[in-house]
Amino acid sequence: MFRGLSTGGTPGTRRRLEFRHWFDRAKNRGIASGDETGYFRAVLELKETFFTIQKDDEDVHLIDSATLTVPSRHFMAIVGPSGCGKSTLLKLIAGINVESEGHIFWEGRDLSEEGDLEPSEIGYVPQFSIAYENLTVEENVESSVRLRCKTHGRDEFYDLVDRVLESTGLDPIRSRPVRVLSGGQKRRLSLALELVTDPVLLLCDEVTSGLDPKSEQEIVKLMYELSRKQNRIVINVTHSLANLELYDSVLVLHEGKIVYHGQPRALDHYFGVDEAEDVYPRLAKRKSDDWQKSWNKHRSNYYDAMLSAAKATPEPKPIAPATDDDGNPIEDPDFDPAEFSTSAETPGMFSQFFALFFRRWKIFIRDGGQLILQMAILIGFPILVILFDLDGVDALDRLSETIPTTVEQYENEKDAVTNNVKLAGLVSGLIMFQVILLTLMGSNNGAREIAGERPIFEKEKLGGVRPLVYLASKVAFLAVFVLVQSVWMAGFVWVICKIPVSFVAMFTFLFLVNAAMTSICLGISSQARTADQASLLSIYLVGFQLPLSGAVLALPTLIGWLTRPFISAYWSWAGVVDSLNSDYLRYVKDGTETPFVASWICAAVLVAHILFGLFIAYVGVKKPRWHG
Ligand SMILES: Nc1ncnc2c1ncn2[C@@H]1O[C@H](COP(=O)(O)OP(=O)(O)OP(=O)(O)O)[C@@H](O)[C@H]1O
Ligand SMILES: [Mg+2]
Repeated sequence: MFRGLSTGGTPGTRRRLEFRHWFDRAKNRGIASGDETGYFRAVLELKETFFTIQKDDEDVHLIDSATLTVPSRHFMAIVGPSGCGKSTLLKLIAGINVESEGHIFWEGRDLSEEGDLEPSEIGYVPQFSIAYENLTVEENVESSVRLRCKTHGRDEFYDLVDRVLESTGLDPIRSRPVRVLSGGQKRRLSLALELVTDPVLLLCDEVTSGLDPKSEQEIVKLMYELSRKQNRIVINVTHSLANLELYDSVLVLHEGKIVYHGQPRALDHYFGVDEAEDVYPRLAKRKSDDWQKSWNKHRSNYYDAMLSAAKATPEPKPIAPATDDDGNPIEDPDFDPAEFSTSAETPGMFSQFFALFFRRWKIFIRDGGQLILQMAILIGFPILVILFDLDGVDALDRLSETIPTTVEQYENEKDAVTNNVKLAGLVSGLIMFQVILLTLMGSNNGAREIAGERPIFEKEKLGGVRPLVYLASKVAFLAVFVLVQSVWMAGFVWVICKIPVSFVAMFTFLFLVNAAMTSICLGISSQARTADQASLLSIYLVGFQLPLSGAVLALPTLIGWLTRPFISAYWSWAGVVDSLNSDYLRYVKDGTETPFVASWICAAVLVAHILFGLFIAYVGVKKPRWHG
């Protein structure tokens, strides 16, 4: 299905519009101008680049003095045995790993000194396919466009989506959910998600691994075509030595060192083997240092051959069309912006925010398990509170009106007092129970939110999604949950249990504790290595709320004062209790040794907890975390 033109406009008008937008974009990036035409030649160079880590107080060079040149319109393979540093080298080029020494140049520009490539100029396809499983192929691509490309109007948006789906062969399966796709289709989707910005540098990590030979060949062909359509460099990391003839160059890495980089047909000759498959066993026969030395000796010969072969391929077409005297482009019927488009502009903060916010809702609604769990918690928890309190519900509004003031009266009214103390204890317990359930809801809201989709987020961050906007979209999404859960719990229990406190006070403190726990667990989620780790830590945090609040069992004074500031449940409980009507407050105070605090202080502490959680979450989302 091809969406085509949705509203009015002839193909001619659309073409002119595309042409105009393309030209404006190219002008903004300084690669096309009204009075000059030129060639867009992307060239990547690494000069004696190291990536070094510390292991047992010693420097280990994961990438050891890498020097290489890649011309534009080039399709290059990085091959080598498992663990030799292929992904590390690719991440170095992508800017995910920062070089420890040496330089990386793009068109002669030193990236570490003069700033990285724009997010839209790089496409990075990580080793493991990542997309939202419950969204369709088309929805994933649309989401990528919304987050990473500024488009002008619906037509341009859908045209871009269509173009990307068609160029990756995904058009026939565009409405399938990702979870049912085959391995090869998922790899195509990973490529499609990166192609939306027309990146000048496309970096692919093992996009063919685990595929059958036919699918592998198809994907390699697709990458080859992608390197030809635009003046684009496509680098593919692979440990497979099949289909090498499609590449312009092959780089062999061995223990972090470059031991060959040249035309694929010269590979067998260089290593003195009959076929490419024999290269790895051959590598193992010499030390990597020796291989590196010998490569440094021969490099210039092989490079000359490779670079002159690159020159021999047809010149890239000019990116800028002819212009008239006023500097306006003259429309060329053969000019196809799709073929020469420049990398897209990253959308503004609000566009990204709404794209993330609405996508989150869509994913939530599609996830049946999540939906049922949230509904069960929402409806079940207040009922649980009431069940535990069935005996006392009716009694709560019947606190004895005779309040003894003398010993004599006290004796007379002993039963009434005992009853009142019991009721006050019930009220206090009920409040705490509600509070604890709200903390449980909070932990369920926040714990997996970021950790569960971290690899996708990291990739989107690399593609230009702003961490603050991402966090804001999470806060907006979770705020709806916190609000609904707190209103429902407060209202339900307030009406049925008739707790002697104003609804506003009850709601405020339940809302604040839920928000505090959601926010702290969101912070944990942003710092955790995996979603399971985040869940576990969040559950522990909830588990500690009850004993450490001191509301049920009194804590030793010192421990109480040390731990209490961090226990949200305590401040919420104390806030509601302080707002109880005064008779109850007196009996609750008589019945517990836990210190009481003015409700406004409780509210302030809970707000501080919320802000603390958000701060931790912000630090967490900013920090790169590709591997947990
Ligand atoms: N940031 C890092 N800190 C410590 N060690 C790392 C880091 N990144 C990679 N390594 C280690 O460096 C080595 C090379 O890893 P890399 O992922 O680059 O290998 P690879 O060639 O891509 O392997 P494979 O073919 O299995 O994907 C591995 O031993 C890996 O554990
Ligand atoms: Mg790898």
